[in-house]
Amino acid sequence: TLADSPAIRRLADWDATRLESLVGDYGSPLYALDLERVRENYRRLASAFPDAEIMYAVKANALDEVLETLHEEGAGLECASAGEVKRALAAIESSDRSDGSGADVHYTAVNPPARDLDWVVDAWEDHPELTITVGAEDTIDRLEERGYDGRLCLRVNPGIDAGHHEKVKTGAAAKFGVPIERAVDVLTNAADRGFDVVGVHAHVGSGVSSDQLDDHRAFVARMGELATDVDEALEGDLEFVDVGGGFGVPYRESEAPLDLEAVAEATREALGDVDARLTIEPGRYFVADAGVLLTEVNTIKEARDTLAVGVDAGMTTLLRPAMYDAYHPIRNLTADREADSSDETRNSADTGRETVPQTIAGPICESGDVFCSDRELPASRRTDVLAIGNAGAYGYEMANQYNSRPRPASVVIDGDDVRLARRRETVDDVTRPETSATDPTTADA
Ligand code: LLP
Repeated sequence: TLADSPAIRRLADWDATRLESLVGDYGSPLYALDLERVRENYRRLASAFPDAEIMYAVKANALDEVLETLHEEGAGLECASAGEVKRALAAIESSDRSDGSGADVHYTAVNPPARDLDWVVDAWEDHPELTITVGAEDTIDRLEERGYDGRLCLRVNPGIDAGHHEKVKTGAAAKFGVPIERAVDVLTNAADRGFDVVGVHAHVGSGVSSDQLDDHRAFVARMGELATDVDEALEGDLEFVDVGGGFGVPYRESEAPLDLEAVAEATREALGDVDARLTIEPGRYFVADAGVLLTEVNTIKEARDTLAVGVDAGMTTLLRPAMYDAYHPIRNLTADREADSSDETRNSADTGRETVPQTIAGPICESGDVFCSDRELPASRRTDVLAIGNAGAYGYEMANQYNSRPRPASVVIDGDDVRLARRRETVDDVTRPETSATDPTTADA
C-alpha cells in the first residue's frame, strides 16, 4: 500500500531521463513536484497518527495543486498569512472533498499586519468555521475591535525548542506565543469576552530529528498538562491540542528517516489522558522529498582548488543553502543518462566521467550564492542538467527577485501526466509594481 512506501525518496531514485527532459520542455531553472509522492507521504504520516487531525502547513509549498491534493487526502490547511488563507479557501472550494465551510482552515497569526486581520475577519463572515490562532494578547484585542468572536486558539511559548538550525527554532523565541504560564488566564479571559475558545497550540521548531525525541517528549508532556488545566478552566470546552509541525526529513544520503512510530508513541503517552483531539500541522514532511529543482550548467572554470560550476538557479531560486547552510543532494542527470545508455551499448569506458570536487554556484552577486563546495560529483560540462534534491519544501516558497531575477516555473508530475502548475516569471513581472504604481494603499492582503 502507499502507506508502506519507503520513508524517504532519495535523489538517486528519480528517473534521470524523465527529469532531464522536463528542462527541454519547460526550460531552466524548473521546480518539479511529484504529487503521488506527496500522497504517499501523507498516508504514511496519517497511518502513524490515526486519531489525529492533520493540518498541512501551507508555507512549506503553497502551490494550489499541493493544497488540493492534500485536502483531498484528508488534511486541513494551516495558514500563516491572509494570502495563504485566500489560497486555502480557493483550494478547498475546488477540492473533491469540498464543503466550502472553512472548517478545515486555521490561520496562525504571528504579529499580524492590520490588512491580514481585516481580510481574514472578512473571510470569516462567509466561513464562520475557520479558526484563528493568536500568539499575543494584543492580537485578541485587535480581533475584538474588528467584531470577531469566532473560534480562537492560543499559541503558547513552551520554552522548549528543537529543529535543524537556530533560525528555525521557535519554541522558546520571544516572538512566538504567550508564555505557557499565562495561558489559562489569557484563555479564560478570552472566553469571558465571548470568543469561542477551542484550542491550544505550540510549535517547537522545524526539521526536528529522531535524536531530538527527548525534547519532543518534554514538550508534549508540557502541552498535556496545559491542555488538562485549560479544559478544566473552560469546563470541558477544549476541542484540540495542536503540537505543531516540525517532522524532519533526511537531506544527506547517510541520514535515516524520522522514527515516526516513536514520535507518535511519545505523543500518545503524553496526551493520553487529555480530553481533547490531537492536532498536528507538518509542512516539510509531505513535500520535501517530492520536489526537485532542475538547473542547467552554463559555466565551467578551473578555480584555485576546485572545479567552479555555474548554474542558472541561485540563492534567489533556492535560499536554504545560503540561509541555513542547508545540505541538498545534487545529481548530474545528463551524466547519469549518458552512463545508462552507454551501459546498454557496453561502452561505459567511453562516456563515463571522472568524479571531481566541484563548487556549484548561481548567478547572484554574492559569495553565499553556492549550493555546495568541493562536492565530489561526475565532472560537469556546459549544458548538463543538474537536479537538486529535497527541494519540495521551502524551495519556491522562499524564492525571490533579488538582482531583478524572475522566479522559475513549476511543474507537477502526476503519474504519467506532467502539468505546468506555475509559469516562469518575466522581467516585466518583476517591474510591474513600478510601472503600475498608482494606488498608494492597495487594499488586498
Ligand atoms: N506550524 C507552524 C506554526 C510553523 O511555524 C511551521 C513552520 C510549521 C507548522 C511547519 O513546520 P514543518 O513541519 O514544515 O517543519 N524555511 C525553513 C523552515 C521554516 C519553518 C517555519 N515554520 C527551512 O527551509 O528549513
